Amino acid sequence: MYELHVVSEDQFGAAAVDLLRDLAAGACLGLPTGHTPLPVYAELRRLAAAGLLVPGRWRVVMLDDYYGGGEPSFHTWLGKEVITPLAIADDRYLRIPTLPGGFANIAAACDDFESRLRVWGGCDWQLLGLGANGHIGFNEPGSARDSRTRLVTLTAATARANAEYWPQQQPPQLAVTQGIGTILEARRIALLVRGADKAAILAAALQGPITPAVPASFLQLAPALVVVADTAAAARLASL
Ligand code: PGA
Repeated sequence: MYELHVVSEDQFGAAAVDLLRDLAAGACLGLPTGHTPLPVYAELRRLAAAGLLVPGRWRVVMLDDYYGGGEPSFHTWLGKEVITPLAIADDRYLRIPTLPGGFANIAAACDDFESRLRVWGGCDWQLLGLGANGHIGFNEPGSARDSRTRLVTLTAATARANAEYWPQQQPPQLAVTQGIGTILEARRIALLVRGADKAAILAAALQGPITPAVPASFLQLAPALVVVADTAAAARLASL
């Protein structure tokens, strides 16, 4: 089951941020990148600038990033949109590893990410976008229900879609993502969906069979799922 909020495009950011208002200091928030959460981050910045919200007290966990440690990176993107403007301190920000760093390999660095997330007590809220192919994070079709944070190869469609965000550069084909099993451990998940081009995949994810072919369909198993969709994205949902 899920709770559905259908909102107009101009109410999208406020509706998503409303979910976060009860987050205590020290609460842990998982954040995605992409076009979809832009109004949410703009609203967070607006409220923080007006002194109506103090997100600097939250802890933030990345959802995914490109592999390789170069640019473009979601780390830089999130830094500009959220981490710097909301004054999230370094020790309150858990990055997805993009290189082995001090570890034997990227798999060991991913295990370290998972351990740190466990030490933090997991995410209180994980915000997610929805890929046109049904991915969540970079869990592409075929990803398993119990997958953990790991190195993945992007589908050609995802690499093409992401290339639009950085027209000057060629995004990498490899990425590191929280697994579906990792994501499902968040105490609450907010799936954010905007635009008519996501209407069919949103209906498949929420009301179709639970299948690795549509990774977002595993969200039907989430302990607490809230969907914030604009009217265009919600258009294909059968009424419950
Ligand atoms: P978008 O991406 O928000 O840019 O549409 C969502 C995603 O691919 O997860």
